[in-house]
Amino acid sequence: MTIQRKLHGVWSSRWTFILAVTGSTAGLGNIWRFPYLVGENGGGLFILVYFLCIALIGIPLMMAEISLGRKSRQSPIHAMRDLVLETSAARYWVLIGWFGVVAGLVVLSYYSVIAGWGLEYLFAMGAGEFNGLTTETANSIFSTLMANQSQLIKWQSIFLLSTLLVVSAGVVKGLGIAVHILVPAMFVCLFILVLYSMRQGDFGTAFVYLFSFKPENFSYESIVVAMGHAFFTLSIGMGAMMAYGAYMPDKASIGSSVVIAALFDTLIGLSAGLAVLPLIFASPLLNSAEGPGLLFISLPVVFGNLTGGEYYGAVFFVLVSLAAWTSAISLLEPAVAWLVETRFCGRLVANLVLGALVWLLGLGTVYSFHEGTELFRIWGMSIYHFLDYMITKLLLPISGILIALFVGWVMRRDTVRHELKEDALVLFEWWLATIRYLTPVTVLLIVVFALTNFFADY
Ligand code: TRP
Repeated sequence: MTIQRKLHGVWSSRWTFILAVTGSTAGLGNIWRFPYLVGENGGGLFILVYFLCIALIGIPLMMAEISLGRKSRQSPIHAMRDLVLETSAARYWVLIGWFGVVAGLVVLSYYSVIAGWGLEYLFAMGAGEFNGLTTETANSIFSTLMANQSQLIKWQSIFLLSTLLVVSAGVVKGLGIAVHILVPAMFVCLFILVLYSMRQGDFGTAFVYLFSFKPENFSYESIVVAMGHAFFTLSIGMGAMMAYGAYMPDKASIGSSVVIAALFDTLIGLSAGLAVLPLIFASPLLNSAEGPGLLFISLPVVFGNLTGGEYYGAVFFVLVSLAAWTSAISLLEPAVAWLVETRFCGRLVANLVLGALVWLLGLGTVYSFHEGTELFRIWGMSIYHFLDYMITKLLLPISGILIALFVGWVMRRDTVRHELKEDALVLFEWWLATIRYLTPVTVLLIVVFALTNFFADY
């Protein structure tokens, strides 16, 4: 154990851990997906269900994943390998570690392309290129960008390089220092944007859109959407939490740290909604908060037509980039830690090798958003949609179920209790019951639902 600790290092304090987890969980999902999911799925009612999912399924699973990491203080693959030996469990449990590492790399491949769009928009916005923009021009700017592969590859590469830069500097000097700067910077950006939007936007309408109960827009499917988003936003099932847990100081309490980070994550999602929706609703050029086009079509129009909009718009895209960056480092770290532990190479080479792999895979996404240039389609989906679907709808929940089963049923109760010793015994009992019964059953429902939907569509 001491060897591993020397190999990667340990977070300098519990707060570094909390910031790192917050950085990982608060990503593109919070800014890009959350606001319109709420709007489309019944407003306040959806938020309520989403809170329940976070509290009843998300937080307990995150605690389980982090305990696995801290228990063995290694990358997810080696952590699972040792835990399997220790518990004399069947070898296939090691799959949990492999799923995590692979899912992280795959998500990073498309995350860096989309973050790249954010960088392009950041500079275009700051340069005032969106001033006086109309919806038609915004649409054509976006589709021109989607067809301009060399530009997309340029930004994808820049984003990926900045991720490699942080991860290759190591846990203490790279990730640890980065999250101390970048996560507070995200909060500052959000604060500025919410104030601006309160002054310039229609706060009342946005508030109603987000928080009023609209049962007519809520269906069973919304429950599944809420669960799926809870999983994605908390970065569960991808080894990221296991890897970050491996660097956690011994005495820090896992339960309370996770609760704080989950609160931050939710706060960031809600404030992102309050930062952008009031501006959208106040704009005479738009009439609704349209789904995924929100970030790259509606918002440039909005900011392009407000006084000072180019500056605040630039702040917004800085926020998007920071959110993506702090998540991206946690997508890469598990795989890097694994490669370093195999002793084939050092951290720098591990970063370069894995970075090259992710970059290549990302090309599939680069070519996914423009009709004429798509490389190929899988079951009618573009490469990006296929990867996103497989990972977020299937692999993440399946890993979640496996983690819950492993921690709840395979590991010895006192081993688990030892990791969560800072939490009161009653809470621990509740947690264990959740992980044993509630989590696997409910998450299985998500998987079954996703599969039936898939075959119904197909
Ligand atoms: N939580 C991130 C978001 O909201 C996305 C994500 C999912 C993630 N799983 C992850 C990020 C694992 C880092 C590591 O956008």
